[in-house]
Amino acid sequence: MQITAERGDITRATTDVVVNAANSNLLGGGGVDGAIHAAAGPRLLEACRHLRATTHRDGLDVGDAVATDAFDLPARWVVHTVGPNRHRGQTDPALLASCFTRSLDVAAELGARSVAFPAVSAGVYGWDPEVVATVAVDAVRGWRPQGGGSVEEVRFVLFNDMLLDAFRTALARR
Ligand code: APR
Repeated sequence: MQITAERGDITRATTDVVVNAANSNLLGGGGVDGAIHAAAGPRLLEACRHLRATTHRDGLDVGDAVATDAFDLPARWVVHTVGPNRHRGQTDPALLASCFTRSLDVAAELGARSVAFPAVSAGVYGWDPEVVATVAVDAVRGWRPQGGGSVEEVRFVLFNDMLLDAFRTALARR
């Protein structure tokens, strides 16, 4: 699997899947969640409302992931995941790692070959960028497809140079 880090706006990623750092209610927010909903258009919120009315009546658990279409984004699917919120005492790195591995599971089930991740939990949810970079890179490196289908390319798409440096440092570690 090819794993890279780049500076950019994830709403412009041309990967099969773009991962959204959502919240448990799945109904949009600020940060990358707000940017993805703005770029994907109102049908994304409709799709999320449908999830809340059907398979995810109680919303999405921290560390879990669920897919929708990507609508007006260049990507084909959005995989929504909920990162741990340090401000609520959610400090277990395994919860954060699960965001990345569950998102890859969901992407592989869809038949996606490429996935773009933002720095989940490194914004509003208050996690240290270096910790997010280390946990994310280790989780992706350690991930193996459960069944059929497999992801061949993972791109970490980072919104500022500080995050890019943190991910490049984590990737440079063997
Ligand atoms: N492309 C790539 N990365 C982005 C973009 C973008 N367009 N916009 C923001 N980011 C980066 C932020 O700089 C941060 O490094 O995404 C990372 C995650 O930050 P948040 O979006 O705040 O996500 P998170 O920390 O997981 O908090 C999630 O914030 O927006 C709300 O609804 C969301 O309640 C949820 C919470």
